[in-house]
Amino acid sequence: MAGNRTFTMIKPDAVKNGHIGAILEKMNGAGFRIVAMKYTKLSAEKAGEFYAVHKERPFYGELVEFMSSGPIVAAILEKDNAVADFRTLIGATNPAEAAPGTIRALYATSIGENAVHGADSDENALIEGNFHFAGTEMF
Ligand code: RTP
Ligand code: MG
Repeated sequence: MAGNRTFTMIKPDAVKNGHIGAILEKMNGAGFRIVAMKYTKLSAEKAGEFYAVHKERPFYGELVEFMSSGPIVAAILEKDNAVADFRTLIGATNPAEAAPGTIRALYATSIGENAVHGADSDENALIEGNFHFAGTEMF
């Protein structure tokens, strides 16, 4: 059975461009409830650790630099079928290929600077949520 929680980050480009409010509205409007949330900034070391699965990819260096370039919003969200429904809401990695109305179609800058992160499995949602929120109270 699909789990009911996912993990997201509003990435530095969307924060810098003033889209936090609009993106939270989209999440809210799609039926996601906020379980935990914080405004924070990743060090290059932490960003590298978070995206370690992409270490061998050619874009890894750029990704780490971008993700540690400014503040982000990290959150755990709850809804039935959370992981898959959230990936639908954010759209394809490349905003040029993202369906109209999706968060990336509306707010992403480029394939690298694409406004939001969404966990890609229940297992990773749990790992990523713990990465940011281990030891904090959940609602
Ligand atoms: P995310 O993990 O951030 O939700 O994105 P995703 O699943 O849609 O894409 P993924 O393949 O996991 O890639 C992680 C992030 O790396 C950057 N990227 N840049 N320049 C490039 O070709 C490229 N490809 C990926 C993006 O920020 C992507 O979201
Ligand atoms: Mg991914």
